[in-house]
Amino acid sequence: MTKKTTIYFASSNKNKLNEIKSILRRLQVSSCKLQGAPEGFSVNENGKTFVENAYKKASALSKKLSCTSFADDSGIEIKALDGKPGIKSSRFFRNGKGMYEIVKKLRTKKNRKCCFTCALVVTNEKGQIIFKTKKSWHGKIADKPKGKHGFGYDPIFIIPKLNKTSAEISPKLKNKLSHRAMAIREFAKWLKTSGKR
Ligand code: IMP
Repeated sequence: MTKKTTIYFASSNKNKLNEIKSILRRLQVSSCKLQGAPEGFSVNENGKTFVENAYKKASALSKKLSCTSFADDSGIEIKALDGKPGIKSSRFFRNGKGMYEIVKKLRTKKNRKCCFTCALVVTNEKGQIIFKTKKSWHGKIADKPKGKHGFGYDPIFIIPKLNKTSAEISPKLKNKLSHRAMAIREFAKWLKTSGKR
C-alpha cells in the first residue's frame, strides 16, 4: 500500500478545509491527506492579485514546514465599481455593512455585472509554485440582500440562470457551481495526474 502524501492547507479556517475535503471526496481524490496549518499561522496578505495572495500564503507555509502546501484567495469583483472590493473583499465586508454599501452604490448604475473569483496555488517544499488556477463565477448584484445560506456576499450575488442569490440555494448546490468549486475541480485534476493522490 502506498503512503498518502500530506498536503498542508495554508489557512486556519477549518470550515473551508472541510468544504475542500468534501468536494475532493466527491471527486474521488482520496489518497492524499489534507492537513490544516499549525495554530497561529498567519501571513500578511498584501499582494496585488488573488494569485499573489494565495502564493504568499502557500509558500510561507511550505518554507516553514518544508512541505507541499496549498492556499486559496477569493473575493467579489464588481464591474461598476472598477472591480472593487476584489482582493479587499474580506476587509470591506465589515459584518455586512460593505454589502449594503454595494447595494446602495449600485442603485444608480445600469451595469450590475460582478463575479466571485478564487485563486488556488500549490507550492513545493522550497516554496515554488507547482500548480495554480484562477476561476470566476459570473453573476449580478441584487437590488437587496436575499437568502439565509452561505456567508459573506452570498445574499447579493444573483446566479443569472437560477435568478436566485447564492444565499438562496443549498450549500450542496453552491458547492457544485461556485468559483471555489471550479478551482478545486482543477486542483483535483492536477492531484490525479501529478501522482500526489
Ligand atoms: P478569503 O478567500 O477567505 O480571504 O475570503 C475573501 C472574502 O471574499 C470573504 O471573507 C468573503 O467576504 C468574500 N467571499 C469569498 N468567497 C465567497 C463566497 O463564496 N460567498 C460570499 N462571499 C465570498
